[in-house]
Amino acid sequence: MRVAFVASEAFPFAKVGGLADVIGSLPQALQKQGLEPTIFLPWYWGIQGYYVGEAWFSFEGRREQMGIGHAEHNGVRYVLVGLGDFARDKPYGYPDDFRRFVRFALATAHLLGDFDIVHAHDWQAALLPLLRNLGWFKARTIYTIHNLAYQGVWGSQDFYAWTGLPGETYYGAGLEHHGSVNLMKAGIVNADAVTTVSPRYAWEITTPEGGEGLDGVLRAHQWKLRGILNGLDTHYWNPATDPYLQHHYDASDLSGKAQNRALLLAELALEDRPTLGVVSRFAQQKGIDLIADAVDGLMGLGINLVVLGSGDPNLERTFAWMAAHLKGRLAYVQGYNEALAHRIYAGSDGFLMPSRFEPCGLAQLIAMRYGTPPIVRAVGGLLDTVKHWETGFMFDALDAGGILHGVREFLKHPDRESVARKAMQQDFSWDKPAREYLALYRQLLGMA
Ligand code: ADP
Ligand code: GLC
Repeated sequence: MRVAFVASEAFPFAKVGGLADVIGSLPQALQKQGLEPTIFLPWYWGIQGYYVGEAWFSFEGRREQMGIGHAEHNGVRYVLVGLGDFARDKPYGYPDDFRRFVRFALATAHLLGDFDIVHAHDWQAALLPLLRNLGWFKARTIYTIHNLAYQGVWGSQDFYAWTGLPGETYYGAGLEHHGSVNLMKAGIVNADAVTTVSPRYAWEITTPEGGEGLDGVLRAHQWKLRGILNGLDTHYWNPATDPYLQHHYDASDLSGKAQNRALLLAELALEDRPTLGVVSRFAQQKGIDLIADAVDGLMGLGINLVVLGSGDPNLERTFAWMAAHLKGRLAYVQGYNEALAHRIYAGSDGFLMPSRFEPCGLAQLIAMRYGTPPIVRAVGGLLDTVKHWETGFMFDALDAGGILHGVREFLKHPDRESVARKAMQQDFSWDKPAREYLALYRQLLGMA
């Protein structure tokens, strides 16, 4: 069975969030099941690959060339799709993102002739199931929603001028949504199977509250929709071997964790108080603004906060300001920092994640693996992965009061070390989810 993944991020080549963790680790787990997936990724600036040739595709009525590269990581083969407008220093955040990823999908579709399964991820690859239905390639298609909040929406005039696709696809193939082209919708409508990254989120997105305007479409396609919980790369995220840590530890002996904690507090000049970590994109989804609202209350509870993240500039300014005024108690580091993220997961006493919604969430899984009980809002994948009072703490209310309630529960627990140990002993590997994906591929190919 020849399987292709098509996605916009893959660790370690390009990472913005959890999508990169998934694309960088699920294929390895599928290899253990006997598959050899090939990953198609845009050839972003700085990715080291071997140039192997070029191919042609058509865009805006012109024939255009793409460069093709190969790369390998942990034994997994990558095909790098080289298009001029991807040679920039970050994957997204540009005004022409929609156009860039439509080009990526059109170009990649020409390279998929040999595959039995094409597994497309998020809006950046959502056009592929429709292209398959138009006969561009033959594979069965799976479309995985990692985040329904980003749908790939643009005006139809541009879209049809760029792609040259037949106009009847606008209504006939599910591209149209409220008068615009919506790639996420086309992915859902055209794929043979749709998955999302936790069972709870698979249900939430079929409700008006969680559906981001696509709940009706998702309900109509619920027969082919299911949730498969994400796993972690448990070799990479392993406190017993993590090269970013000075002291290693496991569930049988947490003394190394205490040493990492002492180093973290010293590094960030924090007083010795219960310390909660946050490692996150600063996006509306993550409820970082609610943490800001809760800061006075948290300080009142005698808590330290260590926050690493970037995104919304207003929130970045707010946290920089608070850190300047709460020296010794609140540390904020702006930006993306892999090494510091590891030190925070290992050195914090608890991990705060007050998400408004959360398709799966990997940060809370990593925190648990590092013996740092997560304090999370009861939503989406957080609900599916954290057991209140056993492996972490949960709260409902989406406001500062909710966060403070969760943190009080955390402080109240008589034996936080047993919570940490139990969290570390959970199985967050890809073994089970990879088998579920394999079963789905086989089912789509009539092999079940
Ligand atoms: P999302 O994909 O919505 O951002 P996840 O919890 O699934 O949320 O995954 C986030 C991933 O990105 C985790 O691996 C987390 O450690 C990482 N991450 C987020 N922000 C940063 C940052 N500022 N520095 C380093 N790693 C980060
Ligand atoms: C998205 C979601 C996150 C999920 C990740 C990987 O970025 O926000 O919840 O864990 O994708 O599937």
